[in-house]
Order: sequence, then structure tokens, then C-alpha cells
Amino acid sequence: MELRHSRIETPLDGVRVLRLDRKPVNALSSALLADVQEAFTTFEKDESVKVIIVYGGPMHFSAGADVDGFTPRVAETGRRVSNEFRAALDTVANSRCPTIAAICGYALGGGLELALACDFRFGAQSSRIGFPEIQLGIIPGGGGTARLARLVGPAKAKHMIFTGRHIPGEEAYALGIFDRLLPADEIFPAALSYATELSCGAVAAMTQAKRSIDGGIGLEMGAALSLETECFAQVFTTQDADTGIRSFLENGPGKAVFEGR
Ligand code: COA
Repeated sequence: MELRHSRIETPLDGVRVLRLDRKPVNALSSALLADVQEAFTTFEKDESVKVIIVYGGPMHFSAGADVDGFTPRVAETGRRVSNEFRAALDTVANSRCPTIAAICGYALGGGLELALACDFRFGAQSSRIGFPEIQLGIIPGGGGTARLARLVGPAKAKHMIFTGRHIPGEEAYALGIFDRLLPADEIFPAALSYATELSCGAVAAMTQAKRSIDGGIGLEMGAALSLETECFAQVFTTQDADTGIRSFLENGPGKAVFEGR
């Protein structure tokens, strides 16, 4: 795998970090989006990968889409850019692994869309997030309107998108966009610690829980419950369920050692 503007780090067995590295602000060019897509496609096929962290480094998570690529000003350009984001961020959102965005500095526009495609966002008190697209006379096109509205509700999403405000970390946490709020130098260690904890658990069951929650949230209740039944059925086919149920019956709760398969 050849990544041009990012790299993969393996701080611990089972945990992978996709470290964005496109100076100065990790603007999401076509090439960096291709990196994200390729990295997540590779993670998907590698059974040893249990939990994934996306990290932009200590300065900025990402300042969003590379505005240099926004020409010519015709509908086809918007469609192309949006589809590039879709291709990359769908691989993130659909990952079988739990995913954590570790956010220091700015996460704006497409950078925030990348973070929203992850399961969790750990953000710094000094972080600033937002959708500044309106200041360019455009709207988020990489999943921002759809994912933000589902996370915080339509009115709060419209307020953020209509105003383009830079939102401080504390407000992002109060809105539920950040799941954890910490000083900047504690963000990556906290993400790594949580990733390590999850990676030792029944990750195959987490995959089914994620499929049921993410797939079910847009469905009416009956269809969501049917999807849950199917995910519940699938989880019984995993080694983790065999290990976990056997351990419970023999030794009581909380003693199983899972393989994550
Ligand atoms: N696309 C392309 N280039 C970008 C960019 C983006 N989204 N965001 C920043 N840059 C470039 C700047 O043009 C500048 O280039 P230069 O050094 O060649 O002049 C460089 O990155 C540094 O940006 P600068 O604004 O000087 O840094 P800063 O630390 O003062 O501010 C930000 C950082 C992220 C607050 C600011 O760059 C910003 O608001 N960027 C735009 C965010 C945005 O609107 N994103 C949505 C796009 S749809």
C-alpha cells in the first residue's frame, strides 16, 4: 500500500493509527482522500486490525477539502468532489472496527466530515470545529449535512452550517459532537487507551452492534428491530460468542478472554 499524505502506525497489536500528514493543515486533496480510502480498505481485510484511530497530529486535525481543487465552477465539479469524499468516508463509516477521531486544533469542513464518519470524536478544549463552507458560498458535500443532522438534530445542524461559526471544544462537547473533552496533549493518549480497551473486548460483537445501530437509525422501528434480529443472529456465529457464553456458564461474568473474531 502506497500512501502519499498519511501513514499507518501500529502502536499496539490490534490498534492502527491513520496519521494524516499533509502540511500545513491536512487539507483533504483527492490524493489524501485516496489514502484514507486505501488505508481503510486494507484495514477491512486484515483480521488483526481491531480498532482504528484517525489522527491529524498535534497541530490540526484537518482544515477540510482542498479548496484549490474547486474548479471549474460547474455542477460536475461539485459532484466529483462530493463523490470523492463519499468513496473515502463510506469506507470509514462502514468499517467493521470501532473508529476514533483524535482531534487537536481545527477540524473544519471536510475535516469535520471525516471525524463525523468515525464512531467517536475525542477533542481538545483548544480545538475549533465547524462548517465554514457558507463563507465560500457553498455547503458541506462530504456527508456533513446528513451526518451532523443525525448526530445533533436538524436545527443545531442548520445553525452551524448557516453561520459557519468556529465552535470551541467545550461547545462541541456540550452538543455531543465531541464524546471526550481533554487538554490537547491528552487527546492522543486517551484515544489510544480507549482503543486498547476496546481491542481486548469482543470486537466481532461490536461489529454487529455497530451495524445494527448505524443501519437501524434511519429505519422505521419495525425494520430497525428486524435488522437487530439479523445482527443478533450473526453474532452467534462468532468465536467471541462461543468464548463469552462458555466462559460465563463455567466461570461467571466478566472473565472471558476474547480473540475479537
Ligand atoms: N484548502 C486549501 N488550502 C488551505 C485550506 C484548505 N481548506 N485551509 C488552509 N489552507 C492553506 C492556506 O491557504 C495557507 O496557504 P499558504 O501558506 O500557501 O498561504 C495555509 O494552508 C495555512 O493556512 P492559514 O490560514 O495561513 O493558517 P492559520 O493557522 O492562520 O489558519 C485555518 C488555519 C484552518 C483556521 C484556516 O487556514 C482556514 O480557515 N482554512 C479554511 C477552512 C475552510 O474553509 N475549509 C472548508 C473548505 S470547503
